[in-house]
Amino acid sequence: METKIKPFKPHIIHSNKPLSDFALPNLLQQVMQHKIILLRDTPALTRDELLSYCQQNAQLLSWDFGAVMDMKVDEPAKNYLFTAGDVPLHWDGAFYQEPRFLLFQCIEAPEAGSGGETLFVNTERVWQESSEQQKKQWSDYSFTFQTEKLAHYGGAISRPMINQHPATGEIILRFAEPVGEDYLNPVTVALVNKTARESARIIQQISALGVFALKASF
Ligand SMILES: [Fe+2]
Repeated sequence: METKIKPFKPHIIHSNKPLSDFALPNLLQQVMQHKIILLRDTPALTRDELLSYCQQNAQLLSWDFGAVMDMKVDEPAKNYLFTAGDVPLHWDGAFYQEPRFLLFQCIEAPEAGSGGETLFVNTERVWQESSEQQKKQWSDYSFTFQTEKLAHYGGAISRPMINQHPATGEIILRFAEPVGEDYLNPVTVALVNKTARESARIIQQISALGVFALKASF
């Protein structure tokens, strides 16, 4: 069964003003509308400036590492997130608490064409643009995810594929690709009430959708 989804693009704002010159409630409102806002050419804030900017208008989640995570290669690593390898598709906070909004600040970008892109999926649109047959099939799926806590997350959770956004009530999807044994700190994924073979087939099919149909180009 094929589901054709049009790629979605972030809403780009070009500005050489620092992020702190933008009213956060207004930016978040735009995120609600566009899903991803990309501020281009804005000078980077320090960690403290970033924290105080966000804390003025938002309650921040705190993790083992605090509210700001430094995403960089940090070898020898215990977890694949801190290596130069790829990061399979996932949603943040799955094993802990899901944040309502995420803010990324790029400190150092790789050379164009050398990798490092991030794949984002607008699951609200994936659902809206899927066929009735596909929707019915997905409505029956529930996944279990399991990983050892070697970084800031871990444990075992299970989640239906179809979820409702807690604030908007819109249907959103929850899916994460398995992180294989060839990565540091693997994550196993399986469908509830399906054989291992059937599970692997369905996971592969959904993964293929994410990679080929939903790449957000910046
Ligand atoms: Fe993430």
